Amino acid sequence: MKTGAKMRALKPVVDAIGFQGHSLLSINDLTNDQIYGLFALARSLEPWNRSMVNLLPGRIMAALFFQPSTRTRMSFETAMHRLGGAVITETTPLISSAVAKEETLNDMLKVVAKYANIIVMRHFDEVQAREAVAYSEAPVISGGFGHWEHPTQALLDLYTLWRTYGRIEGLKVCIASPDLIEARTGHSMAYGLARMGAKVVLASQKSKRTPESILSTLRAVNGSVEERFDLDQDGFNDLITDMDLVYLPGSSLPKGPEAEAFKKVMDNYLVRYETVTRVQQEQGRTIYVTHTLPRRPGEMDLRIDETPSQLYFEAIAYSVSIRMALILSILGL
Ligand code: CP
Repeated sequence: MKTGAKMRALKPVVDAIGFQGHSLLSINDLTNDQIYGLFALARSLEPWNRSMVNLLPGRIMAALFFQPSTRTRMSFETAMHRLGGAVITETTPLISSAVAKEETLNDMLKVVAKYANIIVMRHFDEVQAREAVAYSEAPVISGGFGHWEHPTQALLDLYTLWRTYGRIEGLKVCIASPDLIEARTGHSMAYGLARMGAKVVLASQKSKRTPESILSTLRAVNGSVEERFDLDQDGFNDLITDMDLVYLPGSSLPKGPEAEAFKKVMDNYLVRYETVTRVQQEQGRTIYVTHTLPRRPGEMDLRIDETPSQLYFEAIAYSVSIRMALILSILGL
């Protein structure tokens, strides 16, 4: 289909989502209908995951990453290039931008918004980042703010789940990490899953349970959410036997003497290769496993890569089309 015809076909889908000009800081900035609208749009954009559809010529996306990233930055950049737009990127703003000369983040966003039509930003301080967004005249997409949320990671993982099962409602998902306080992808994913009717189990150390502010929002949407604390590896693998998806948001390794103790705790959340292959053989059912990546040695059994349970690399491909859909829905056609 020629670009003009493609634009005419997609415009009503993009318009129906009703997100033009909006920023995305939390997954809760989107309604369920908007999320399903993005899924439908992403599905129709999948043929351009590896080529270009010239829908956004002359539009510019700025990528401002105050923390390291491979996937989020590169898949947004890929998405914008695939849509025919251009990208300007700052990967070391604390060193190479005027922030290094004490320019405030508020001023930086005021300025960058004069160049770019849309901004994707990752920042280590969610309070500072959320405040600065108000100074941007261009819409801002969060690429992960502090320990708070990482909404587009959840969006791509929800999309991957929807493409895998054809639904979200009724699925049983365990979000597991020794530390669910700092798990910003886990927070966004729990919101999305609960709102869309999945049954969510949050497995962590009790001392690092999901923050009350997140739990109270989950309760407010009548989400099916339960918590399981301090399981050992046997108990954790028993728990996941019943799941449709195990969601591993990862966790940062503490520095110094706490690192070894934390690695031992992390071992309790290891998804065993034997668990997923046994369920596959005995029940003919796949327990899908996804990790938001990057993963560290000891976080998962790498043999899962070669099983039908592996969903984490499938998600990488889906991330491009869902991010294309999000950019289109914000910039419009
Ligand atoms: N999943 C994720 O956010 O990965 P990056 O840190 O590489 O962007």
